[in-house]
Amino acid sequence: MNGSAVEVILAPLETIPPGEGREFSVAGERIAVIRSRTGQVFAVQAGCPHKSGPLADGLIGGSTLICPLHSWKFDLSSGEALTGSCRLKTYAVRLDDAGRIVLTAP
Ligand code: FES
Repeated sequence: MNGSAVEVILAPLETIPPGEGREFSVAGERIAVIRSRTGQVFAVQAGCPHKSGPLADGLIGGSTLICPLHSWKFDLSSGEALTGSCRLKTYAVRLDDAGRIVLTAP
């Protein structure tokens, strides 16, 4: 990790049900934290690069996310577009010993 990186505790993991996402605001950026049904946690930009659809409300399947507005599909690990033409910004996220979601601040 970069020595100057700042980590921010967002919330306990259990505040996000499996298969759902929640939006947070960190350092002026809107970030969608997604909890997959298989227990993985991802953090990506909250606004879809197409027309700002709310990605925290998207359809989550494994490590893919489908935008609720026009169904562009993204890989949550890499941010790559699986359909559509713009990739997502991704953020480093982990769980701490207390089961809280910790994001490396942008
Ligand atoms: S706003 Fe996300 S696909 Fe259009």
